[in-house]
This record gives sequence, C-alpha cells and structure tokens, in this order.
Amino acid sequence: MDNLLSMEHLSEADIMRIIKRALDFKENGVQPFEEKKYIANLFFENSTRTKTSFEMAEAKLGISSIPFDVNFSSVSKGETLYDTCKTMEALGCDGLVIRHSENKYYEQLVGLGIPVINGGDGSGSHPTQSLLDLMTIYEQFGTFKGLDVVIAGDIIHSRVAHSNQQALEKLGANVVFSAPPEWQEAHQGDAYRVLDEALAEADVIMLLRVQHERHDIRARFTKDDYNRLYGMNMKRYDRMKKNAIIMHPAPVNRGMEISEELVEGEQSVIFRQMKNGVFVRMSVLTEILGSAG
Ligand code: NCD
Repeated sequence: MDNLLSMEHLSEADIMRIIKRALDFKENGVQPFEEKKYIANLFFENSTRTKTSFEMAEAKLGISSIPFDVNFSSVSKGETLYDTCKTMEALGCDGLVIRHSENKYYEQLVGLGIPVINGGDGSGSHPTQSLLDLMTIYEQFGTFKGLDVVIAGDIIHSRVAHSNQQALEKLGANVVFSAPPEWQEAHQGDAYRVLDEALAEADVIMLLRVQHERHDIRARFTKDDYNRLYGMNMKRYDRMKKNAIIMHPAPVNRGMEISEELVEGEQSVIFRQMKNGVFVRMSVLTEILGSAG
C-alpha cells in the first residue's frame, strides 16, 4: 500500500490485514523498525487523539517524529501545502501524516515522492479513525457480516460517518443513520431511522460529535434538547441490546451526544477505541513504511 487516503481505496482483504496486525500488536507487543525512519505529522486542524496517537505509535515503532507546528511554519507566509510537503520530502522524511480542513487536500499532492497517511480531510474521510472503530467492533463481535450499526448525529459534516459507512457496507454490516433533518445527506435518505426504533435492534450505536466548527449557522439545539431528541441517555440506554456497544470518536460534548453518566458506562467502548487507535496506527505505519524488524 503506497498511501492511506480514504476507506474507498481499501479492499476487504486490506482492511482485515490491518486490523489483524493491530490485534496481534495489542496481544503480543511490537518490535521497533530495524532501519531508522522519519515521519512528520502535519496537523492543519486541531487534534488531541489522532496526533498524539500517531506520535505514540511512531515512538513504539522507533520512528522519529519530526516536530512541525503549523502556527510557527512558513504556511503563515503563504507557502502552499504542496511546497510544505515537498520540503519535508527534501529534508528526508519517509512519510507524512496530514490533517487538513480541505476535503481531498491530497489531490494537490500528486508529485510527492513519499507516502501520505490521511489524518482527516474536512468533512471527507478519516481512514485511521474508521480502522480503529472497525478493530473495536471486530474485537467485540468477531465479524462484521450481518451486524446492525446505527450511525447517529451530524452525518453530513462528519468524515468519521463517511469513512465508516464505506467500510462497514464493504464488510457486510447493515448501516442505518439517525440525524436531525438538516444534517442528513440526500443520497442516504431511505436509510434514516428514528433513533428510538433503530437502537433497539442495533449491535453498534455510533455517535458523532456535533461539528460546531463546520456549521454556517449556530445549531438550533441546546445541549439538553439535542440529547433528548437525538442523543444517548439513560432512557435509550435501557432499550439497547445487552451486548450492544456505544461508540464515539471523541472529543465528546458530554451531556449532548451522550449523557455524562454513560460516557464511561458498561456498554461504552469510547476509551477502548482510543487505546486501539495506537495499535491500528502502528499497523498502518508498518503497512506503509515496510515491515517491523
Ligand atoms: C474526529 C475527527 O477529528 O474527525 N476526532 C478524532 O479524530 N478522534 C471526530 C470529531 O472531531 O468529531
């Protein structure tokens, strides 16, 4: 695999190989690369989990993360994304992890001689989040075929929803959506359900963060209204199947997408998702930079 740009580009076999290697790393540990490798993590949008989790994965594989802070870089002098990336290549980086607010920013990077791992592009794709979500689902159920998954919330603005829909359908899960009308996507129209109905059958309830920063107008909901109409709360929790799981990519708006008391509740796997993110990113880096020694 040369790059990891979106889940569309991965086959079922690619996805399963990455997940199984991540599970093996989780169970048996990992050996650092024998050959020295250098990665720059270029984050043009804020991040806590994805950036730190890549840094942790790189550290565990013995890869040097070359510091790059967009606010102190020549981007503020108007340097293009392409020239910033070409510079990293010229300086000797073996690969780049990039997060950027522009959908499909990576199309500008044809001509770059080093691999790119997409850490999230606008409302487009977030392949490593999807892979860690898939790893967490697979760890729980041992299969994707026939699982009922409901993705709930700000669908239209969510790169997590887009990547997970592509991947889960490819893997044989049944995906339905639940969202306020203004955050539904037209082409998914017939797959929308009322959350109260969908969650009773669901094996996986995947909540999405309300993407305030991608809205032109302020959302019409208060935190409490959103939670009551579209979020997970104790009332809905009681109607879930007993082996179903609640997922959220985080950061969580506590009390909005999910009630405070459920974030670390028994059926929530939110912090397990984060933990699995390190193993999935080690697996992706191994896939792209060559096998660990
Ligand atoms: C997600 C993202 O940035 O797309 N967060 C993450 O990477 N864990 C989800 C979000 O911010 O809503």
